[in-house]
Amino acid sequence: MPAQIIDGTALAATVRQEVAEGVEAFLASGGPRPGLAVVLVGNDPASHVYVANKVRQTEAVGMHSVRHDLAADVSEGELLALVQKLNRDPTVHGILVQFPLPAQIDPAAIVDAIAPEKDVDGFNPLNVGRVASGAANGLVPCTPLGVMRLIRSVRTDLAGLGALVVGASNVVGRPMARLLLQAGCTVSIAHHLTTDLAQRTREADILVVATGVPGLIRGQTIKPGSTVIDVGITRIALPSGKTRLVGDVAFDEAVEVAGAITPVPGGVGPMTIAQLLANTLTAARRLQT
Ligand code: GUN
Repeated sequence: MPAQIIDGTALAATVRQEVAEGVEAFLASGGPRPGLAVVLVGNDPASHVYVANKVRQTEAVGMHSVRHDLAADVSEGELLALVQKLNRDPTVHGILVQFPLPAQIDPAAIVDAIAPEKDVDGFNPLNVGRVASGAANGLVPCTPLGVMRLIRSVRTDLAGLGALVVGASNVVGRPMARLLLQAGCTVSIAHHLTTDLAQRTREADILVVATGVPGLIRGQTIKPGSTVIDVGITRIALPSGKTRLVGDVAFDEAVEVAGAITPVPGGVGPMTIAQLLANTLTAARRLQT
């Protein structure tokens, strides 16, 4: 029987609806309108599309959106000064500096400068530490948070399951593993130096793949009945001259083996911005109390 397809587009709409209702309730209780500031440096075309989507969706759930566009040659000092201004701005509850940044700017310096209570990306070391230690007051990176919601939409009890995260980035792989551990999974992280990847993926009840290598995971290397979450999204050229978005999992093969699987596009991608909005509401509520 083919796997259940986990519909990230539909689940993201549900999350946005929950956030919109949360914003209404927060305003009704006397809270300020939650505000998200997005900072875009330079002319990266993909970043422009992402930021435009973030602004549109922020406004659609009833939040206040602030956008700052800075030139590609802006200095690190100027960007730090803007971050510090946003840290002090009482109408801003969440701050996101879009990556990648130009070479003259150290991303770690920017992430360090964002006030932890407004760090809706969850990249500031204080939030990384809070998530790692299981503290409830951290802000959790958006993609892993969205993946947990996708997994829980098909499996409610994760305790004791074997989970494998393929990819060890700070943005996805590492926080992902920490959240799965907190959910009671027995977690492994594979990365580009892992030698027996297929053996490990075949044993995983929950497989989260975030490498950016199209088609890395084949159908015969997936455990039958497992939950497969594909975070990868790569645009490939087809012989026809058209392009297509593909994930890290060979979907047509995997769908015949897995119990549930996310498609690309329409799986993890839509969840990330939805969780960003949820994090902004969380930040606004905490700043209020
Ligand atoms: N660029 C691509 N994804 C992200 C993200 O989740 N946060 C930020 N700040 N930049 C990104």
